[in-house]
Amino acid sequence: MTAFARRAERVQPSAIREFLSLATDPRITSFAGGYPDPTLFPVEELHEIYASLLTADNASALQYTASEGLPELRALVAARLTADGMPCTADDVLITQGGQQGLDLTAKLFVDAGDVVVTERPTFLGALIAFNPCEPSYRSVPMDDEGMDTVALEEVLRTTDRVKLVYTVPDFQNPTGRTMSLARRRHLVELAERYDVMILEDTPYRELRYEGERLPTIRNLDPNNLVVHLGSFSKILAPGLRLGWALATPEVREKLALLKLAADTQNGTLNMRAAAAYLGGHDVEAHIASMLPVYRHQRDLMLATMAEHFPPGISWTRAEGGLFTWVTFPEGLDLAAFQRDVLIPRAGVIIVPGTPFFAERPEAHHARMSFSGVPDDRMVAGLRAMGSLLADALG
Ligand SMILES: Cc1ncc(COP(=O)(O)O)c(C=O)c1O
Repeated sequence: MTAFARRAERVQPSAIREFLSLATDPRITSFAGGYPDPTLFPVEELHEIYASLLTADNASALQYTASEGLPELRALVAARLTADGMPCTADDVLITQGGQQGLDLTAKLFVDAGDVVVTERPTFLGALIAFNPCEPSYRSVPMDDEGMDTVALEEVLRTTDRVKLVYTVPDFQNPTGRTMSLARRRHLVELAERYDVMILEDTPYRELRYEGERLPTIRNLDPNNLVVHLGSFSKILAPGLRLGWALATPEVREKLALLKLAADTQNGTLNMRAAAAYLGGHDVEAHIASMLPVYRHQRDLMLATMAEHFPPGISWTRAEGGLFTWVTFPEGLDLAAFQRDVLIPRAGVIIVPGTPFFAERPEAHHARMSFSGVPDDRMVAGLRAMGSLLADALG
């Protein structure tokens, strides 16, 4: 018998994986992945940087470095966070293996078995995957177009013991694309103080805003240092670099760094040197600005095509940024079954059924759809086919 630890019971394959393996099949039109559009990666610039880093006199790019991350990269990240209203120095920043590692380390630092993690409803599946081995209980708080309903959150905090973390993706949330309003951000910070809980703020899509005004981060509004703020280079440079960051108080940051040392010693020096060279030698803001019209167009096309071809009774969010829209179908339509029995065999289209995005009390009549990276003609053809199958299914 293999005697796994108890936490391994909560380590299960994700329902999404089987669909994602289909996403590379050229006959399939995938709205499932949510990967950034690879045609937008700065491949040539990175090629030059890697070539120069790997010259013989530069073997330091292949050497160990500090667990907290390469000092120059920490300083460059701190400068960008400062410019975004979060004054900090290199010492305040921990470089992580993507934003995902920030989720894992923060849960390890704060969550004992049976502690409660509060999430948005729905929430980022990858966060649940990161938190689960710490064996939390979950409470989930409904959202509307202003993000997490903080009045409902207060009720949860008032009536629930052992809440340790409130997890939120305030900007263009995965999976809904929704953004938390300024008033809700302020209320959340007030509640964190009143009920003495940590906020885990996860912002990988923050810089992909296609319209409207940028809002202050929750960390920016927090005078009491109750926020662990996570960010990532995945959507603004390339996810394969596996580079993200955590900004937290010195006490929290030090503990996160020790947990990181235990997990993987450090991020790859070569990738950190490359990102530092990119940020130091290229205009990353211009690079980000160049991506926005591409994604804005893809979003607009997806929403307009759904409006034209989907039958009545279906609604979706209008994301001001990020990569996703969240589609709600009439109750009773189970999107996992519809996808398996109808959508894939008859239209060759995949979406992500909504169920796994709920930390508790899952709902089956939603789907996450990503507009990123699908060529226009395939997007229109795929959505038109989906609309006609939905019309049949819904009578
Ligand atoms: C909300 C959210 N957080 C974190 C991540 C992790 O991304 P990465 O580890 O590539 O930075 C993702 C990726 O999809 C995400 O959507």
